[in-house]
Amino acid sequence: MRYSSLVTRVTGEGADAWVVHYAARAARDRGEDVVILSIGDPDLPAPPAVLERALEALRRGDARYTPVAGRAHVRGAIAALHARRTGQAIDASQVLFTAGAQNALFTAALCVAGPGDEVLALEPLYPTYPAALQASGARMLRVPCRADFRVDLEALAARIGPSTRALFFATPNNPSGVIMSAAELAVVGELARRHDLWVVVDEVYAGLGPEGRVPSLAATIPEQVVTLGSLSKSHSLPGWRAGWLIGPRELVAHAEALAACMLFGLPGFIQEATVTAVGVAEEAEARVRALCAARRDFLVRALADVPGLRCAVPESGMFLLIDVRATGLTGHEFMHALYDAERVAVLDGGAFGASTAGYVRLCYADDEAVLAEGAKRIRRFAGTLARRG
Ligand SMILES: Cc1ncc(COP(=O)(O)O)c(C=O)c1O
Repeated sequence: MRYSSLVTRVTGEGADAWVVHYAARAARDRGEDVVILSIGDPDLPAPPAVLERALEALRRGDARYTPVAGRAHVRGAIAALHARRTGQAIDASQVLFTAGAQNALFTAALCVAGPGDEVLALEPLYPTYPAALQASGARMLRVPCRADFRVDLEALAARIGPSTRALFFATPNNPSGVIMSAAELAVVGELARRHDLWVVVDEVYAGLGPEGRVPSLAATIPEQVVTLGSLSKSHSLPGWRAGWLIGPRELVAHAEALAACMLFGLPGFIQEATVTAVGVAEEAEARVRALCAARRDFLVRALADVPGLRCAVPESGMFLLIDVRATGLTGHEFMHALYDAERVAVLDGGAFGASTAGYVRLCYADDEAVLAEGAKRIRRFAGTLARRG
């Protein structure tokens, strides 16, 4: 039987990033001794009030169909959170409730570009982006970053052409933790204004920025900015699939039509709990930030002076990039060899683009004992490489 060209667009570039991660998970399920540092899945329980609200809604029988765009009071609560974070006063009609930020990204990508269009994506780039951005038939062009992982504004300007429709990036970035500065955003905003570009900003880690905020263009060019977010990272609730897309009313109306044929509404009890989660956002985010900062420092100390490795300490987020080039291996080779030798799963930096191909990414939002064991094995592995020369 034949398939559409979509199936190759969504299984190409980026799709094999998780090979070692999945192998490690399967090994753990078989009871084998593995250390998994390959995914951002913090080991924190749900905030009690959020859990209670979900359970209470479920007990009340909140199991019926819900409005496609999300319940009005839920969209209103998310709008208020966005206004607090960005200074952009919006109402509920500018919010679409989605199944996580990933679903919001996919929805935005399908609504802003299509065949014959180009979209730009700033490296380093979360591995699900190429498929999500190209599902629409648009062509994705990568914009390499500077050596310090900050946006290369000249490279960005040079990539913009007559077919460019949109720019996508994450701030804070995964995996680098870099937060786009107000000065950098001002240039990005000016380019977007001049070339009529959509600016789709993935703020899934915004709650991990200082005070739970990151500089934003949403209030500056509200007609062009689409903001994506979720409870996955800020509240440590990735499995709940609670997220949102925020943008101009017309875009949200198009996105709602897409959601009608894709989702037809999301669970009511998750939506009710999202209202509570948004209400306790400050405390919840402070809890995740404190955990991440402490675990980052712990892991960086545990990996200090490992031969051939250099940690690029991030300003925010939950990931550590380690430069492995001095070992003579690429990130991809290091990832596989480390897993084969020590059963430690990390992610190849190359999965985020050529800019990070000499790195591996570790998630540090985990138990200290797990981090310590992972660091011990990595040190042993790097020692073996160094002895081999
Ligand atoms: C940059 C980035 N965007 C989006 C997502 C997906 O988030 P969600 O769980 O809200 O779909 C992730 C998850 O790791 C991410 O790192």
